[in-house]
Amino acid sequence: MKKLNANKVDIEKAAQIIKAGGLVAFPTETVYGLGADGLNPIAAAKIFEAKNRPSFNPLILHISKIEQLKEIGECKNPAINKLVDKFFPGPLTLVIPKKENVPDIITAGNETVAIRMPDHPVALELIESAGTPIAAPSANVFGQLSPTDAQHVVNQLGNKIDAVIDGGKCKVGVESTILEITDNEIFLLRHGGLSVEEIEDTVGKIKIKEHDKNKPNSPGQLLQHYSPNIPLRILTDKILEQNKNKKVGALLFKNNSYDFEFESVKLLSPNGDFREAAANFFGMLHQLENDNIDMIAAEPVEEIGLGRAIMDRLRKAEYKYK
Ligand code: TXA
Ligand code: MG
Repeated sequence: MKKLNANKVDIEKAAQIIKAGGLVAFPTETVYGLGADGLNPIAAAKIFEAKNRPSFNPLILHISKIEQLKEIGECKNPAINKLVDKFFPGPLTLVIPKKENVPDIITAGNETVAIRMPDHPVALELIESAGTPIAAPSANVFGQLSPTDAQHVVNQLGNKIDAVIDGGKCKVGVESTILEITDNEIFLLRHGGLSVEEIEDTVGKIKIKEHDKNKPNSPGQLLQHYSPNIPLRILTDKILEQNKNKKVGALLFKNNSYDFEFESVKLLSPNGDFREAAANFFGMLHQLENDNIDMIAAEPVEEIGLGRAIMDRLRKAEYKYK
């Protein structure tokens, strides 16, 4: 695997790898993506292989210009114009009816395609130079923590991909918010880096698609995801009591007010700011994974703004350890 820097020459090298059907991990403002040519089905298949990802899960196509959206999708709902004007580029993915040129492997056979324009100069330049929409899930092994710096990518996927571009730490830190836009409705499929409040200020009330027990694997709706490789539980008095003889690492919001001997403590945002907390979220979980502890106790945060994206990821991380 080549380690590339965030300069013109290296981004051009990365674009050549994408054009040739290879895999390049690259920074975005949310998390690192594992990119391949989104219109080349063989290249996209390599993403599933590298991530060990179940093939029912479709991929987001990343674009560098708003005009590119029309080349891969079409949407009759006028609300899309408001969303694109206000939030592209940014941490928002739109699921809309696809155009014919989008391969089935990208959409997992659905008639819709997920599209996002990342707000990161390196990602935009890479897509522009590659001259194709770039398919990119988060650059982690399926089910594990999402990567928010280049080293996280190297640790999980170093021997399975062609290159990684090091663009430093991601400033948003959680994945994009996903909306599905139908002719007359808007559904939230995943909480993420853009808050529901900001979206509703722009397009009015949206509907939240809850996890469907009958379709447990439907896109964006997995109950389990993003898990660290040591047990994680959402912190309650009962959890602390049950685990008082263990080495517990704490992921806390802004201060430590617990009467408990934690083995290590990470504070997401000493200022109590959800943006800062989201930006630190995965990075601190990666650190706790390596802290030689028995389990992580993660403090719940208030479910407003980006607090919802954080709680969504904590519940999914906890699921297999409950
Ligand atoms: O911030 C992000 O969105 C990052 C960066 C790299 O852009 N990407 C990311 O991709 O989180 P991924 O593959 O880890 O998550 C994409 C989600 C999946 O849950 C997938 O099921 C859903 O988007 N999705 C993709 N295409 C869809 C479609 N046509 N309909 C419904 N959901 C879709
Ligand atoms: Mg992911």
